[in-house]
Amino acid sequence: MYKSTVPRPTVNEIIPSLGRRQQPGLTESAVLEGNALAVLQSLPSASVQCAITSPPYWGLRDYGIDGQIGLEPSLGQFLDQLTFVFSELRRVLADDGTLWLNIGDGYTSGNRGYRATDRKNPARAMATRPPTPDGLKPKDLIGVPWRLAFALQEDGWYLRSDVVWNKPNAMPESVKDRPVRSHEYLFMLTKSEHYFYDHEAVKEETGDEGLRRSRRSVWSVNTKPFLGAHFATFPAELIRPCVLASSKPGDFVLDPFFGSGTVGLVSQEEGRRYLGIELNPEYVRLASERLQAAQPNLTKLVVNG
Ligand SMILES: C[S@@+](CC[C@H](N)C(=O)[O-])C[C@H]1O[C@@H](n2cnc3c(N)ncnc32)[C@H](O)[C@@H]1O
Repeated sequence: MYKSTVPRPTVNEIIPSLGRRQQPGLTESAVLEGNALAVLQSLPSASVQCAITSPPYWGLRDYGIDGQIGLEPSLGQFLDQLTFVFSELRRVLADDGTLWLNIGDGYTSGNRGYRATDRKNPARAMATRPPTPDGLKPKDLIGVPWRLAFALQEDGWYLRSDVVWNKPNAMPESVKDRPVRSHEYLFMLTKSEHYFYDHEAVKEETGDEGLRRSRRSVWSVNTKPFLGAHFATFPAELIRPCVLASSKPGDFVLDPFFGSGTVGLVSQEEGRRYLGIELNPEYVRLASERLQAAQPNLTKLVVNG
C-alpha cells in the first residue's frame, strides 16, 4: 500500500474563502487544481454525497505532468495508488454516499517498448509502455477494471453493481483474432451497506409506450469526440443516471480526476453542487471555461500539495 509523503494542508489553507464562511463544510461548487490525493486529504469527512470519476487508465496516456497517475511501472503499484486515493475519497464521502467509477482495460504489450503516434490522439504515443504484469502473457487482456474493483472491495468498499457501458459507435479495430471491444465498465461502490439510491429517478423506457422499468445494468451510450485539448472525456449521458440516482438537488458531487469537467457540467444541469479536482492546469482552464458559461463566479483554486 502507498504511504503518502504529501504534507496535509488544512481545509482553510485550500479553500480559504469557503472555510471562513462555513467550517468545516463547503458551500459552493469549486474547481481545485492539484493532486487528487493531497486535495482529498484536505477536505472534510462525510462532506460529499456522491463521487463520479474516470481515473487515468494504466499505461494508456501520458498527460505530460508530474504527479500524474497511470504511468506506474507495475500494475500492482497502479492498483495500490488508486486504492489509496479512493480510501481517502471514502472518508470524504457521506456515510450513505456512492462512488461511480469508470475504468478501461487493455492488453499486455508483449514487452513492446513504444506505441506509435496516433494522429487523431497525440497523447496515445508513449515513450515507454508498462511491462507485461507477472503471471500474464503477451496478448492477454489485463482485466484492470475487475482487479481494481476487487482491490477496492478488499479495502472496505461495498461493490454493489457493475454496469456495462455499451458503445454503439465504438471505434473499429483491425483485429482478426478476437471480438472488437465495444464496452467499458462502470462500477457502483458504496461506503456502507445501506445508502441513498433514487431508483425512481433513473427508471428506463421498456419500449412499450408509457411503460418504464427499473434501470438495468447495460447502458448504451455513444462516445463523444474529445473536447478541446482533452482527449478522454466521458459522455454526459453516461454519468447523468449516476448523478440522478445517487444525489439530491443541492448535494455535492465530487470528481477527483475532473479532466474537462463533464461531471461538473451534468451536476450544474441537474441542480447539484460539485467539486472537481484536476492536476493539469490546462484542463483546469478548459473545465472552468466550460462551467463558467453558466456560473461566471465559479470558485477556482490552486492547491499546492
Ligand atoms: C480519464 S481523464 C478524466 C476525464 C473526465 N472524466 C472528462 O470527462 O473530461 C483523467 C484525468 O485525471 C488527471 N490526473 C492524472 N493524475 C492525476 C492526479 N494525481 N491528481 C488529479 N488529477 C490527475 C488527468 O490530467 C486527466 O485529466
